[in-house]
Amino acid sequence: MTIIARVDPFRPDEEVVRKAAEIIKRGGLVAFPTETVYGLGADVFNRRAVLRVFEVKGRPPDNPLIIHVNSLEMLDEVASSIPEVAYKLISKFWPGPLTLILPKSEKVPYEATGGLDTVAVRMPAHPVALKLIGESQTPIAAPSANISGYPSPTKGEHVIRDLYSKIDMIIDAGDTLYGVESTIINILTDPPTLLRPGAYPVEEIEKAIGKNIVIPEFARGLKEAGQALAPGMRYRHYSPATPLVLIELSDYSRQSLSELAWNVIRLVDQYKDRKVCILATEETKEYYTGLNAVIVPLGSRKSFYEIAHNLFDALRKLDQLGCGIAIAEGFEERGLGLTIMNRLRKACSRRIVI
Ligand code: TXA
Ligand code: MG
Repeated sequence: MTIIARVDPFRPDEEVVRKAAEIIKRGGLVAFPTETVYGLGADVFNRRAVLRVFEVKGRPPDNPLIIHVNSLEMLDEVASSIPEVAYKLISKFWPGPLTLILPKSEKVPYEATGGLDTVAVRMPAHPVALKLIGESQTPIAAPSANISGYPSPTKGEHVIRDLYSKIDMIIDAGDTLYGVESTIINILTDPPTLLRPGAYPVEEIEKAIGKNIVIPEFARGLKEAGQALAPGMRYRHYSPATPLVLIELSDYSRQSLSELAWNVIRLVDQYKDRKVCILATEETKEYYTGLNAVIVPLGSRKSFYEIAHNLFDALRKLDQLGCGIAIAEGFEERGLGLTIMNRLRKACSRRIVI
């Protein structure tokens, strides 16, 4: 049986958090909100609980988990030989959506790290997540609380849809704030490497360390990552069941949105036999009036924050609407645009660059 508890995100019921912590402590699984997406949590030091996380999600065992801590003391339990630059970033960005790759402590079982000698760690900013870690008195290993390969959950109902009856408890605190996962940086390389663009724009992190961060092709969603760099990045990700075609401009400063929209319209014409959905923005939706297509709104291009916040819910909606094919527009790769494009390129089944 799965307990579902709805709580206020800012003032969660103490009793609910206590109950959830009891479940974590005895090796159970609890889905909980973070400021990025919902996580599926287990006590990181309990091998059996960690293995169950992989089993429930259908996640390949070599795709490591992120460990969530609520203090620097707890960080020392899971990581060792922490370089100076880590503290620079921690003092500026924690609690918050920044995950750091650090050497693992002996205590962390290899089940959680996919066999690697490093750990991915972050301190979440969501009050429910912080309270849950505190009450559980242990770092919590938590991947996103979705079935492996499907878009990450940004609402309690997404978690219920994917994991109800498979885990012990779901804490539903409504919508998450960012709607995309944390930014993952490997600071063990010099200069540091971006492993996954996320809710913190990489430009802000570069400013904080006064150095450029290497952005490999796979972090832009263009290539698969090799085992050593970012194991989990090799797998299919964020994909709705509906086939998704992504149409991108090659240069957003020289090409116009009307060019993008005309190419979307041309494509809609080619799929006359199917129900077509378009993931459209405020700025482009006018172009699509009168077309035989369902418009799924993503928000305004003036706020990539808004687009990112709505993205995974919109991808999930495509399946609920029974679309035969969906078309998504591209975004400029600056700030959160890099994060949005990483997710869309990984989610799509076909990519067209014009
Ligand atoms: O915002 C987030 O980060 C969310 C919330 C729940 O905190 N969590 C999340 O976890 O997105 P998940 O499992 O969906 O993504 C974790 C990714 C893995 O795909 C893997 O590539 C990377 O983190 N990772 C974990 N440990 C690593 C390591 N030691 N070295 C390199 N990459 C690692
Ligand atoms: Mg995930």
